[in-house]
Amino acid sequence: MSEVKLFINYEKLSSYVANIVEKQLKEKPNSTFILPTGTTPIGLYKELVKRKLDWSEATTYNLDEYIDNIDPEQSYLHFMMVNLFEHININSDNVHFPKKEHDTEYGFNVDLCLLGIGGNGHIAFNEPGSSFESETRIVDLTEETIKDNSRLFDNIEDVPTQAITMGMKPIMSSKRIVMMANGKHKQRILDKAMFGRLSEELPASILQLHDNMEAVYCD
Ligand code: F6R
Repeated sequence: MSEVKLFINYEKLSSYVANIVEKQLKEKPNSTFILPTGTTPIGLYKELVKRKLDWSEATTYNLDEYIDNIDPEQSYLHFMMVNLFEHININSDNVHFPKKEHDTEYGFNVDLCLLGIGGNGHIAFNEPGSSFESETRIVDLTEETIKDNSRLFDNIEDVPTQAITMGMKPIMSSKRIVMMANGKHKQRILDKAMFGRLSEELPASILQLHDNMEAVYCD
């Protein structure tokens, strides 16, 4: 059953998710995590940096990465370095990004999977129409996602059109999932994903089938 926790502001939401990460790391220092990029987790990453946690034994798998010939500074690796990895004591050998299609090892059975949700209900870059059985693979981004992502580029023409993304299967194999949504523009899609009909047209709706999943929201 899906649960959505509401927060009065973004700071409270970020700090709630940071508490979950902190507890996970303290209980099991060699925990494995799936991590998102995007604007939503920035507050969480700031909070995690402030807490100076011990990440020395932890392992992370990022959800996705652009694959076009892009400026390295626009890569998700760069985003993660600047927002988190450069500021914590994680071992760089334990930081992973998807590289190979159909990699059945990548990001399976992690302890804690953190997600954002796209305006069209995508998770990672599993766009509407992605199979619930999908594996890690190369995908074309939808026009809507390219438009959403263009806020981080000078021109829309510079936004990559393809990415490699973790599929639904590895995401669903996580022991625990927390999905974050921030802003009124995410309210309707989050509501549909969590309480509407299960549909591959709304990829995040598959999360209703996970037995240890919660969503957190603030507007
Ligand atoms: C990024 C990712 C995407 C984002 C989603 C929401 O690694 O997996 O699915 O979580 O596009 O992005 P923001 O947080 O920028 O609204």
